[in-house]
Amino acid sequence: MNNLARLRLHDLAPEQQDFRAAVLEGLARPHKSLPCKFFYDAAGSALFDEICELPEYYPTRTEVDILRRAAAQIAELAGYGGVLIEYGSGSSIKTRLLLDALAPAVYMPIDISREHMLAACHTLSRDYPQLHLMAVCADYTRPLRLPRVDRGGQRKLAFFPGSSIGNFTPLEALRFLKNIAQALAPGDGLVVGVDRKKDPAILQAAYDDAAGVTAAFNLNLLARCNRELGADFDLTGFAHKAFYNAAAGRVEMHMESLRAQTVHVAGQAFSFALGETIHTENSHKYDLSEFQHLATQAGFRLLKTWSDDANLFSVVSLQRS
Ligand code: AVJ
Repeated sequence: MNNLARLRLHDLAPEQQDFRAAVLEGLARPHKSLPCKFFYDAAGSALFDEICELPEYYPTRTEVDILRRAAAQIAELAGYGGVLIEYGSGSSIKTRLLLDALAPAVYMPIDISREHMLAACHTLSRDYPQLHLMAVCADYTRPLRLPRVDRGGQRKLAFFPGSSIGNFTPLEALRFLKNIAQALAPGDGLVVGVDRKKDPAILQAAYDDAAGVTAAFNLNLLARCNRELGADFDLTGFAHKAFYNAAAGRVEMHMESLRAQTVHVAGQAFSFALGETIHTENSHKYDLSEFQHLATQAGFRLLKTWSDDANLFSVVSLQRS
């Protein structure tokens, strides 16, 4: 079978309308905010890949090291073959470790960034000539009905790496994990990457790197408003701001207005005071016990946890009860 015959796209993609509506709604709030899922247009996805290579951004390389050590055991616990489902697959780089260990019959990546995901699928399809790819372009932050896989009875393993779970508040994370549980059958697996609570200085550096890549990633959201919605954000009038909010247990990213100014989006005017921010991302950090409690509440039982020596990051293997 050729490469294309093994790749299928299920396009549940949100319309452009969604971005416009979310921006207008978010900027009208007393505390202005924009959903972080809109970071990932083509430029944003490329910048995110650059973030993953930064010396300060420890999560990616730490998780990859853990997965390298754990992959064989993950496969043993989950069962070989079957269906591997990845939430927020991006460039599908970590996936390869599981594809090699698990040898699934089907890989189902789910991502909001269609072209980026399809490019990754084409590369995978070349490198894994037996693998069937069912790409799903979708916003996984909303309740999602996955396409049926016509391979009755095959075990499923859901994979949610990168600590993207941190973008949800704990309550949203619970809802999301319950949604995954619904897509699985009892006995199926879930592997989640969890970023741990740690010295705030380490977190601060990870989200405010010296090279300014994270700042560019954050700023790209305003640039995207200009490109796609005809907004008139002055990109020199806003600055990247990241800090650890200890009370909420999360890193917050904002874009801070450097002066009093008015911005127009789709015919509507939004005024900013000097120092006023647009809240663009939360990245929640978990103690292992906190995360395990969430997973249990969502209907999973803990199989095994792997961590690096410094306990920066953990990979948690769960089973649907
Ligand atoms: C993709 C959500 C895991 O929160 O660390 C990286 C996104 N934002 N630098 C994270 C991000 C700023 C990242 N996640």
